[in-house]
Amino acid sequence: MTRTPQDIWLAPSLLSADWARAGEQVRELQDAGVEWLHFDAMDGHFVPNLSFGALFLQQMRPHCDMHFDAHLMVSNPEDRLDEFLQAGAQSISVHVEGNAHLHRLIWRIKDGGAMGGAVLNPATPAEALEVILPDLDYVLVMSVNPGFGGQKFLPLALPKIEKLARWREERGLDFKIQVDGGVAASNVEQVVRAGADVIVSGSGIFGVETGLKAGVEGMRAAIARAFV
Ligand code: DX5
Ligand code: ZN
Repeated sequence: MTRTPQDIWLAPSLLSADWARAGEQVRELQDAGVEWLHFDAMDGHFVPNLSFGALFLQQMRPHCDMHFDAHLMVSNPEDRLDEFLQAGAQSISVHVEGNAHLHRLIWRIKDGGAMGGAVLNPATPAEALEVILPDLDYVLVMSVNPGFGGQKFLPLALPKIEKLARWREERGLDFKIQVDGGVAASNVEQVVRAGADVIVSGSGIFGVETGLKAGVEGMRAAIARAFV
């Protein structure tokens, strides 16, 4: 399948938003043409940081109609699925690590009406979810160790994305490949060339001094370079 720049979706991470004016920022992102919003839920246990839960997602829902994507960095994610589904999550990803019943978790998400994704930490090989690839709507490849925004991109994510893209092609599968961590206009071209379709970026969009619209445009221009 030949991809075009329009097939690549941006998913700004609200972890890097100014939470006091998050509604306003979300509307700005929608006006800039962003497809997905990425919500990083952290419990201070699975990862060393605490962020927000489903209530935040629910509060953002009236501000836009972008796709809401929840990345659950929590222990026992099965206890949280219903509240994220009810809050309006349209895709939910859960980590491979520490989830002994990943296949069941994914199907609980899908049966709840959302896209089901599985997340690979930097140290986890793509092979860890090879068996359930046909069940997945997307795979999230972490390019930092989860827990914090603003970390440096780990190049070890690139061969992992390439391998997943190759398996997808060879086996006629249609899951999306999402990448998360340290992605900005300076390196998104190589991430897209490797095969990623959904680009999460926190500081790479919210940290752009000239504003969110400029941040989104800078990412789009860099993505387009992957296609020339
Ligand atoms: C990291 C989170 C990421 C993070 C991305 O634990 O999963 O979504 O917010 O932020 P940047 O793009 O700044 O690395
Ligand atoms: Zn994330």
